Amino acid sequence: MIAPRSPAAQAAVAAHYDGLDAYYRELWGEHVHHGLWSGPSDDASVEVATRGLAEYVIGLARVRPGDRVIDVGCGYGATSRLLAREHGARVTGMTLSAAQAAYARSVGGRPGDPEVLVRDWLENGLEDQEADAVVAIECLSHMPDKPRVFAEVARVLKPGARVVLTDWLACSERRGWRDRHVLEPICAEGRLPSMHTVREYGALMADAGLEVVRFEDLSRHVSRTWPIIVRRMVARAARDPEARRFLRDRLQEDRVFALTVPRIMAAYTTRAMVQGLFVARKA
Ligand SMILES: C[S@@+](CC[C@H](N)C(=O)[O-])C[C@H]1O[C@@H](n2cnc3c(N)ncnc32)[C@H](O)[C@@H]1O
Repeated sequence: MIAPRSPAAQAAVAAHYDGLDAYYRELWGEHVHHGLWSGPSDDASVEVATRGLAEYVIGLARVRPGDRVIDVGCGYGATSRLLAREHGARVTGMTLSAAQAAYARSVGGRPGDPEVLVRDWLENGLEDQEADAVVAIECLSHMPDKPRVFAEVARVLKPGARVVLTDWLACSERRGWRDRHVLEPICAEGRLPSMHTVREYGALMADAGLEVVRFEDLSRHVSRTWPIIVRRMVARAARDPEARRFLRDRLQEDRVFALTVPRIMAAYTTRAMVQGLFVARKA
C-alpha cells in the first residue's frame, strides 16, 4: 500500500473537485475518468473514449431495465445518466462535491433520471441488499478505511449481484525512490489517502464477502488520456490569463494538480501504477 505522509481528508477531496470544477469539465467533459481505446489505431476522441469506459463498465455490470444501481463517486453523473437513460436502471449516484452534484442536477430532471446526492459513501444510508449492481469508476482510492468501503459495497448488494470498479492501483513491487517520488506525490496531489495493489484490493474484497470474477489491467488502453489532457492544459493556459493566474497563485492548493500530470504519465510509462478493473460478485 502507498500512503502519503499527510493523507487527504474527505473535506480535501470535496474541495479538490469543487475547486477544479471548471477545469475538469473543460479538460475532460462530463466523464471525469480515463478514456478507453481498443488499440493504437483507435482514433476516438477523449469524449468518445471516456464514454466508452463507462459503457464497458456498465456492460460488465449486466444491468437490466428496472435494476436498482448505485453509482459510487458519481462525479457529474454521466455514468448514472447512461445507466438510467439507455439501460432503464433506477440509479442513485453519490459524490462529495456539491459543484458536481449541482451540474448533474442541472442537466438531469427527465423522468427516470438518476438521483444525485452529495454524500459520503461511508455514510451512504442505503438499505441492506437494495442494489442489483454497484459501479464505482475511479473513486474508491479517494476514500479512507478501505475495509469499510468494500463492506458497504457488499452490504448494499443483493446476493449474487455484481460490483464493477475501476481504480488507480500501485504495482506490486515496492521501490523506495519510486514510491517516494512518484506514487506518494500522486496520492498527495490527487487527494488519495492510500493507493493499493491488485492483490490488496482482491484481499479486501474477499474479506468483505465479494468474490472477484474478473480482473483487467487497463493501463495500456487508458494511458493515452494524459498526453491529450496535457495538450488541452497547455492550450488553455496559452489563451486564458485567468488559467495562468490560477497556476501562479500560491494560495490555490489544487494548482498542484498540474504538477501531478507528468508524474502520472511517468507512473504509467514505468508501470509503477496500474489502472485496474475488477468485477466481483456478492457471495
Ligand atoms: C475521478 S472522479 C470520478 C467521477 C465519476 N465516477 C466519473 O467516472 O466521471 C472521483 C469521484 O469520487 C467522488 N468521491 C470521492 N470520495 C468519495 C466518498 N467518500 N463518497 C462519495 N464520493 C466520493 C468524488 O466526489 C468524485 O466525484
